[in-house]
Amino acid sequence: MTGTEPRLSTARERAFEILEHGRRRDLASRILDWFLVAVILANVAGTIAQTQPEIEAAYGEDLQLFDRLCVLVFAIEYVARMWVAPEHPLLHKLSAARARLRFAATPMMVIDALAFVPLLLELAFPGVAYLRLTRLVRFLKLARYSPALATIGRVVAAERRALLACVIIIGGVMMAAAAAMHTVEGELQPERLGDMSKAMWWSAAMLAKIGGGELTPLTATGRIIAAITVMLGIFCFALPVAIIGRGFYEEIRRRDFVVTFAMVAHVPLFSQLDAASISDLVGILKARTVPAGTTIIRKSEPGDAMYFIASGKVTVETATGPIRLEEGDFFGEMALLTRERRTATVTAVKSTDLLVLDCDDFHRFLDRNPDIGAKVRAVAHERTATNQHASSGADQASTRTSSGAEPLSK
Ligand code: CMP
Repeated sequence: MTGTEPRLSTARERAFEILEHGRRRDLASRILDWFLVAVILANVAGTIAQTQPEIEAAYGEDLQLFDRLCVLVFAIEYVARMWVAPEHPLLHKLSAARARLRFAATPMMVIDALAFVPLLLELAFPGVAYLRLTRLVRFLKLARYSPALATIGRVVAAERRALLACVIIIGGVMMAAAAAMHTVEGELQPERLGDMSKAMWWSAAMLAKIGGGELTPLTATGRIIAAITVMLGIFCFALPVAIIGRGFYEEIRRRDFVVTFAMVAHVPLFSQLDAASISDLVGILKARTVPAGTTIIRKSEPGDAMYFIASGKVTVETATGPIRLEEGDFFGEMALLTRERRTATVTAVKSTDLLVLDCDDFHRFLDRNPDIGAKVRAVAHERTATNQHASSGADQASTRTSSGAEPLSK
């Protein structure tokens, strides 16, 4: 290894983080994303504007110059993404060249290439007319910035077999309806049902409910076939919608599970649990992120849940003053154990990731995990003692909770 390689790798790692990783709190990555989104939108707007003869006549040259600048940005972006490709976790094991080749074949990189290659071809071979509207493919570059679009892609990929079955069902119904109508009324209405292609157009229009191509069945059997076709149309189109809807639900549940699973690892109380209990726990915990300043618990309100801090900080307003709880601590257990009202107000000091355990699940979980139950009770006991001690006017400076929380007033 030469002396310069580690530095190169660090710079490439950072560039990968900015370009590809897109962490929510990485300012550089967010600025770059917004810049690229702005360039894409401006470029697509420019391309559409250029199709207007008046605008083209007045600003044609400026728009062309702007288009070339945008393409330069897209080309630099493409080269930078190719450079950082070996940092991709899924391509780590490959050599840099193979990692880049693999990366270049991913759908988003193909779209990125289409954003600038046609113009390069135009410049290299003047006179060859490339379709100007292929530039609108650049709009697809926005897909990278829409996690929801990526979710749709994953859902469609996961449900591809069920969706293929739908296509086969719809095709089968369409053909059966067309064949029936062609047989019954083909001779009566040869212009519209005289051959299978015409009859298929009729059945497709009926199934999609865009009307029957202005065709009214002339016979009773024809009317029955048309009515059945319309009803089957509802079934045929409801099916893929239901499949995609269920796929979305599953995808979101899967993502919640992964997020919750990762958060559970931040709470030491759960460290002694075996894999099966953790998986049960992940099923009943809900992940919630609260911004700074949010009141999570209000004193004297009834208790409905307990909270674990996966990251961030909260303040508990006690009689001795504010007490800070941090990552790994928990709160909200006292009202659930005593079935009385909340003993203090708890507020987020900064953006805080919480795991929420509902009251019923709390009691069930403690019954099933007596060791954890004993620890939670011990902490609650100590907190109660601290609060009682404080309210009876004892020395305030000695207040420390068993969870390691420190009084802020110290
Ligand atoms: P609960 O009474 O349900 O709601 C307020 C929560 O604040 C309480 O449960 C405890 O989890 C927490 N709390 C109350 N007193 C203290 C204390 N002295 N130290 C740390 N946390 C406390």
